[in-house]
Amino acid sequence: MTRHRSLAIGLLAAAGALASASTALSQATKVPGVIQEGNYDPGNLGMSMQPAPRNDDAGAVYAVGAWPTYTPPLVDGDGKALVQSFCGICHSTTYITMQPPLPGATWEHLVDKMIGTFGAPIPEPAAQAIIAYLKSHYTPETRKE
Ligand code: HEC
Repeated sequence: MTRHRSLAIGLLAAAGALASASTALSQATKVPGVIQEGNYDPGNLGMSMQPAPRNDDAGAVYAVGAWPTYTPPLVDGDGKALVQSFCGICHSTTYITMQPPLPGATWEHLVDKMIGTFGAPIPEPAAQAIIAYLKSHYTPETRKE
């Protein structure tokens, strides 16, 4: 009984120490080993940019650059809102726009895969509307942007 209690107290103390260590780390302005802080970059699709010169720290072992957070807009059309709400649950809709133009059958297969393999909770009528939207805007024949 006493042993259990002191073990529990020990665990609590360890958790407390861990929590304060991680707070201290997140408050630190400089993380050892990072030679360049990460930052959120505005969208720069279609532009070519030169990276800024790096300010290397002596002894640093890795760098963090710009995190790619830009999500290109989806083409307007019937079904767009369904795509935005259902296809953005697990990943950004960039997964759609970054594909090359794909044949309609491939989009059908992809949507089936998201539902069947990855468990996307998309009701059948919405899935059909999403497939129709993708076929109308993202195939070799229909893709414009
Ligand atoms: C339940 C979560 C989930 C939902 C919802 C979802 N996806 Fe995915 N999707 C994934 C996973 C997991 C991957 C594979 C990720 C990877 O490989 O990095 C993926 C990858 C993709 C890819 C990349 C190609 C491939 O085969 O890996 C495309 C395109 C894609 N999804 C489109 C869609 C579309 C369109 C929808 C909406 C119908 C959708 N996703 C909804 C989980 C989901």
